[in-house]
Amino acid sequence: MKGIVFTTFIEMVEQKFSLKTLDTIITNAHLPSGGSYTTLGTYDHSEMIQLVVKLSEQTGIPVADLVRVFGEYLFVQLVDMYPQFVDSNRTLFGFLLKIDSYIHVEVLKLYPDAELPRFEYDTSDPEALVMIYRSSRPFADLAEGLILGSIQHYGEAVDLKREDISDGPVNAARFTLTKRG
Ligand code: HEM
Repeated sequence: MKGIVFTTFIEMVEQKFSLKTLDTIITNAHLPSGGSYTTLGTYDHSEMIQLVVKLSEQTGIPVADLVRVFGEYLFVQLVDMYPQFVDSNRTLFGFLLKIDSYIHVEVLKLYPDAELPRFEYDTSDPEALVMIYRSSRPFADLAEGLILGSIQHYGEAVDLKREDISDGPVNAARFTLTKRG
């Protein structure tokens, strides 16, 4: 997992919790990296899971909730770094449809060792968008947070439903976004 994800997580913990909480979770997590990350480095994604588990123990907030909130926070950071992806898409569905075929493809050019999920789409209903997340890593909660961040960014009235469809080693979830009204 890229360092940018870790540095953003560290920033969120400091901002939403405290420097003391951050220090405590880094100490308790016993991380191979020691908890010092650079934006361009690459680290084992299990370090992220460790950090979130420790943050959950420290705060009493469930892991899934923390990861979802982090996804929303990460979305704002990604848009700040790469505004062209939202600038070039006027609608929420238009933007989300580009993640697999364009945005993450460009990300891979920038960071050839990035580990990215795959998305499949169903656009047969013009009032809804179905996105299927698949990854060898368990970050469907992060995907949910990123989708929620996208919904907030575009300010469209959309309901989000999630179903877990994981199968063996493949983590999978079906997200259905339905236009309201
Ligand atoms: C501005 C748009 C976006 C950019 C620039 C971007 C970029 C990235 C980057 C740099 C990573 C880290 C890769 C690594 O750690 O090796 C990542 C991971 C990920 N992205 Fe995106 N992303 C964007 C939007 C989204 C959205 C809207 C979603 C949700 C549908 C999404 C889903 C994910 C997930 C779930 C991961 C974690 C890896 C995994 O699950 O296997 N991304 N993305």
